[in-house]
Amino acid sequence: MGGCLSKPKPVEVKVELTLLDKEKEVDLMSPNGKASPFSECRLNGSLGHCSDEDTMTLRPHRKHRDYIEASVCHVKDLENGQMREVDLGAGRALLIKEHGEFFAVGHKCPHYGAPLVKGVLSKGHVRCPWHGACFNITTGDIEDFPGLDSLPTFQVRVEKEKVIIRANKQALQTQRRSKAMSKCSAVINSSTGFSHILIIGSGPAGLVCAETLRQEGFTDRIVMCTMDKHLPYDRPKLSKCLESTAEQLQLRSSDFFQTYDIEILLEKEVVSVDVKTRTVTFRDGFKIEYRKLFIATGSRPKALSYKGKDVGNVFHPRTPEDANSIATLASSKNAVIVGTSFIGMEVAAALTDKAHSVSVIGIEAVPFRKAFGEKVGKALMKLFESNRVKFYMLNEVWEMRGHNGQLKEVVLKSGKVLRADVCVIGIGSSPATAFLKQSGVHMDSKGFIPVNKTMQTNIDGVFAGGDVVTFPLALRSNKKVNIPHWQMAHVHGRVAALSMMGKASDIKTVPYFWTAMFGKSIRYAGYGDGFDDVVIQGDLDELKFVAFYTKSEEVVAVASMNYDPIVSRVAEVLGSGKTIRKRDVETGDMSWLIDKGSQ
Ligand SMILES: Cc1cc2nc3c(=O)[nH]c(=O)nc-3n(C[C@H](O)[C@H](O)[C@H](O)COP(=O)(O)OP(=O)(O)OC[C@H]3O[C@@H](n4cnc5c(N)ncnc54)[C@H](O)[C@@H]3O)c2cc1C
Ligand code: FES
Repeated sequence: MGGCLSKPKPVEVKVELTLLDKEKEVDLMSPNGKASPFSECRLNGSLGHCSDEDTMTLRPHRKHRDYIEASVCHVKDLENGQMREVDLGAGRALLIKEHGEFFAVGHKCPHYGAPLVKGVLSKGHVRCPWHGACFNITTGDIEDFPGLDSLPTFQVRVEKEKVIIRANKQALQTQRRSKAMSKCSAVINSSTGFSHILIIGSGPAGLVCAETLRQEGFTDRIVMCTMDKHLPYDRPKLSKCLESTAEQLQLRSSDFFQTYDIEILLEKEVVSVDVKTRTVTFRDGFKIEYRKLFIATGSRPKALSYKGKDVGNVFHPRTPEDANSIATLASSKNAVIVGTSFIGMEVAAALTDKAHSVSVIGIEAVPFRKAFGEKVGKALMKLFESNRVKFYMLNEVWEMRGHNGQLKEVVLKSGKVLRADVCVIGIGSSPATAFLKQSGVHMDSKGFIPVNKTMQTNIDGVFAGGDVVTFPLALRSNKKVNIPHWQMAHVHGRVAALSMMGKASDIKTVPYFWTAMFGKSIRYAGYGDGFDDVVIQGDLDELKFVAFYTKSEEVVAVASMNYDPIVSRVAEVLGSGKTIRKRDVETGDMSWLIDKGSQ
């Protein structure tokens, strides 16, 4: 393909190490050599954002031996706007040069560990090439999601034209940093039914809301309740790594929640909300009063109507137990997947090396058509077919037949009978808001909760976010949309927490999601709903492509496979408020991306 982005020139990096083993107390310097903000960190009360040196350990005296210092390159080795991964002996760091200044931060994205050097550097932050998280290069703070943690930062100085990095060895190893957080200072009797903030749902929206409150210095009681029996976990992995246990997927440990006084009520289903008395009632009759409420109950899988509802081994994957059972039941057996969008197709891909056969049933002619368009859908269909997946398209399920209550056959409306030992249904989802019916919280005809740009519902003190809401999307002139992405739920959780604390902030993000199959990922940024054309660059047969989704003359979204970091680059452009025109992407010359789009 023509006009691809040129790769940065490799620079030979000479590393000189200075191991600091003298037992001298260190001066508490910030990464930029200024006085440390350490003294400004209060564990109970509002906080500044601290560097790794402040948050790695909260010991006031640290030793030189905890640090390593290395000369990593000559000042001229890096141009402005360039990044390099450099080795300090005890671990690697990402060295960045912007406007003549050097910065050093962790080199791995704390989300799934992507090499940030392959990401996009722009105006004081680096955006991850895999799923678009953004980190401030001065503070290391996470500024856009997904993921919960920030990057450690390291001191950089220039001496005799050499760039020298001084880093905490532990931070070099962990490559991640949790922001400083407050605790609860209110006297709590946990049997009382009152919480200053009550969060319904422990998915990413709920979790990020709770963490943001503590990061911003909220010191009253926070209770988060969930129907799940597990602590918050990485739900997107369920359909990609079916055998992962809840413990392997866990996002935060129980110690973490205890340390920061975030109370979690597991297996507690809310059945009603009374906004007049500010009371929430659970299925077991327990009640909690709240001062502020955050509703983040996510989605429920849509049900399929068919004959034979009582037959077992039919799943709508939502929990680690569902995913584990699917993997076990499909082992050397026949698996049938109903639905050709993300969850169904990811499960189909994950089962191909376990199951005897994998069949996919779809009502459309091509999988992924609605999200990615026909051409990309067809290319992906070929990939699945070459991995033994058999498609039954333009078809629907008529009946599930069992023997002794266990699935044996799936009968299609066409009359075709498929042998089946396990069936996975992934035909979409709807908002989990049934418990709000009598509450007075406004919902639209589909059950979504409309919120404003600060995640506030129509009721004072009641906020909502994540999959359950429609919200004003700046990218689409504040049109209210529902975007059920893992990343977007994080953003909503943060904005809601800031609003609850009276620190109103807008939803500033570009929607970003991903899907994975057969070891390959498709990344996607923007909001392509209602696209009217797709401009494809690259080679679809080789599965190395970029697809630009356009509406009239404007690019509204982008998807790519094997083309990093193009989606993150486009997200940068769209996030900066610039418009990408269809003509910009039709030529195949994408050098315009370097200049960040047209005005
Ligand atoms: C299998 C699977 C794979 C996915 N893969 C991807 C992916 O690759 N990329 C991507 O961007 N997105 C993916 N998603 C979508 C993503 O997981 C959601 O967008 C995201 O989880 C939404 O977050 P949330 O916080 O709004 O709600 P959820 O994560 O759905 O959490 C909802 C929470 O509310 C609780 N709850 C619901 N009702 C009640 C009630 N009445 N009382 C108490 N608690 C209640 C639930 O128990 C849960 O804790 C996937 C989803 C699934 C199911
Ligand atoms: S690995 Fe960086 S955002 Fe996922």
